[in-house]
Amino acid sequence: MFTVAIDGPSGAGKSTIAKRAAKEFGFLYMDTGALYRAVGLYMLRCGIDTDDEQKVSKNLDFVNVGLNYENGIQRVTLNREDVSEAIRKNEVSMAASNVSAHNSVRKFLLAFQRDTAQTQNTVMDGRDIGTVVLPDAQVKIFLTATGEARTKRRVLQLTELGQKASYETILAEIEQRDYNDIHREHCALKQAPGAVYVDTTNITLEESVNRVIDIIRSEYERFG
Ligand code: DC
Repeated sequence: MFTVAIDGPSGAGKSTIAKRAAKEFGFLYMDTGALYRAVGLYMLRCGIDTDDEQKVSKNLDFVNVGLNYENGIQRVTLNREDVSEAIRKNEVSMAASNVSAHNSVRKFLLAFQRDTAQTQNTVMDGRDIGTVVLPDAQVKIFLTATGEARTKRRVLQLTELGQKASYETILAEIEQRDYNDIHREHCALKQAPGAVYVDTTNITLEESVNRVIDIIRSEYERFG
């Protein structure tokens, strides 16, 4: 199978770019952040402190996360309920970041991610795809942008979804999540060996998409 690993911090444009790239090549697109968000949502709904590893781990027994594809679009289920929209709420972002620091949660989601990539050509995005989940991916990309650029994009995205978003609040949240992602003990966010570094701060979305597609195309052609 041909696999593409795209990692980077929140708001770098990973999901939009990965989705477009997957469509271009007819690959499956897997947004692994959605899995952590579903776990975070479950814990929030149950009133569990998402920082409390013991409690979170115990409650994983009651969590069943699934992905379905409707016309190529990923839908996320939590215990069979479609939570694709619910997991995008802003409060779920921090819960996802908190639960993703726990090794038990990472282990819980690892096999699911690997198994998917074994059955079909996949573009997967997340934080540890090139380093941990698919270290043998044919293409690895580290996609990033400054915190300010990512905040502006996120504010726009939330406003479009009809959610209130102040620049200062979102910037503080992005900085907090960056800190969590980079400094956590397990599977911290970092550029994988061999990953191509793509900084999208000063380029448009179209340019970013084209750059990523070009990187994938040259490897895919060699792959045969
Ligand atoms: O990409 P996202 O913002 O939807 O991800 C939600 C959270 O999940 C984010 O704070 C980091 C975490 N995450 C992770 O730790 N590893 C991944 N492969 C994907 C996401």
